[in-house]
Amino acid sequence: MRVLVVGSGGREHALVEAIRRSPRASRLYAAPGNGGTRAHAEPVAIAPGDAEGLAAFAERHAIDITVVGPEAPLSLGIADRFRSRQLGVIGPTAELARIEGSKAFTKRLCSDLGLPTAAYTACATAEEAYGVLETSAFPTVVKADGLAAGKGVVVAETPGQARQAVADFMERRTLGDAGSSVVIEECLKGEEASFHVFADGTDFQPMVASQDHKRRFEGDTGPNTGGMGAYSDDGILSSEIRRGVIEGLIRPTLDAVGAYTGILYAGLMLTREGPKLLEYNVRFGDPETQVILPRLETDLLEIFAAMVDHRLSEVELAWKPLASASIVLVADTYPGKVETGRKISGLEAAARMDGVTVYHAGTRWEDGHVYTNGGRVLNVTAVGDGLADALEKAYAAADAIAFEGKACRRDIGQKGLRRQ
Ligand code: AMP
Ligand code: GLY
Repeated sequence: MRVLVVGSGGREHALVEAIRRSPRASRLYAAPGNGGTRAHAEPVAIAPGDAEGLAAFAERHAIDITVVGPEAPLSLGIADRFRSRQLGVIGPTAELARIEGSKAFTKRLCSDLGLPTAAYTACATAEEAYGVLETSAFPTVVKADGLAAGKGVVVAETPGQARQAVADFMERRTLGDAGSSVVIEECLKGEEASFHVFADGTDFQPMVASQDHKRRFEGDTGPNTGGMGAYSDDGILSSEIRRGVIEGLIRPTLDAVGAYTGILYAGLMLTREGPKLLEYNVRFGDPETQVILPRLETDLLEIFAAMVDHRLSEVELAWKPLASASIVLVADTYPGKVETGRKISGLEAAARMDGVTVYHAGTRWEDGHVYTNGGRVLNVTAVGDGLADALEKAYAAADAIAFEGKACRRDIGQKGLRRQ
């Protein structure tokens, strides 16, 4: 099979790594890919947002399956365009991508179906939002309705902070149209967990749970980022909670929205009253994918092929009884402005270590060397017998890699260790 992966981050490198292991994979392409994907996937210089260009490429190169990494192309209708040309694609239609692309849409869906989520009010004007804040309990959460690349949520401790968020999103339009309406919701307390499923329009199959670390610094402090690390083990969700999430959230959602083909990712808050939905995403999480796929025993391409043919229920999913951890190496000034072009050393030594895979996120290959090419640089991942072992291996490999300004969090997975 000929496969195209759309995107350029660590998630896409993990997808390429998993797909290339399939005996069914004949030719792999990444559009545009990064310094790591090029080892197994030919780079294609077409932007993820250029749906027409990608569909034409897929037709010309007889691509059997295209896997879309990021959300933005899905919201813009890339999957619709591929399907209308009879091209296999992993991702929902633009209409169903609203489940990620509009917070108000998803909150309304939750209310209609009685799904567990934070109480909320959707506000179409700034006046309305200021009015809601008059009677809100604090902390409260202000969310831009649209896609904001992780910058659209403010957990406001005070009325002043909340009003500032409304002014930024709705009046100053700091996020453009994404902030033209907002959702104001109750602040939930608890640990977060990420829960992904494969869905083929009729059936779905769950993946193993994982946990992201969104804040930049140790102890979950500092600004939100695109994820500083993740881990996956079977302790994140008890089998009872897992069943509750599947039956009480995922199944009613997929039943209600109709034919959803792609990845559905629920961001959960594990509150004292049970798991509640923070958000839905219509794609794989990053960096969650980097810890989920190393635990997948089943051939990923076989799963994708079954999804395209709507026969996912025929595939028996198997997971390795291992834990996994991924440490995100960033440029020290991330998530602020970063310098790029720093030469990276130690990649081969790290990759040779037991259980380790180094996924590239923001890297560039030039003349036989790998250079930094963004704030999020590498996802150093390891599997092990239990979380402590996975973490030890991942940190040992992370420490073997060097580049000027390298930084990471040293406490990835600590909540998981404490749970044990
Ligand atoms: P979202 O994009 O909705 O996942 O929000 C991004 C992050 O903001 C989440 O991962 C949480 O850490 C935080 N967050 C979102 N909604 C809430 C909420 N209702 N209560 C507490 N924290 C929240
Ligand atoms: N890990 C958060 C996300 O992918 O949205």
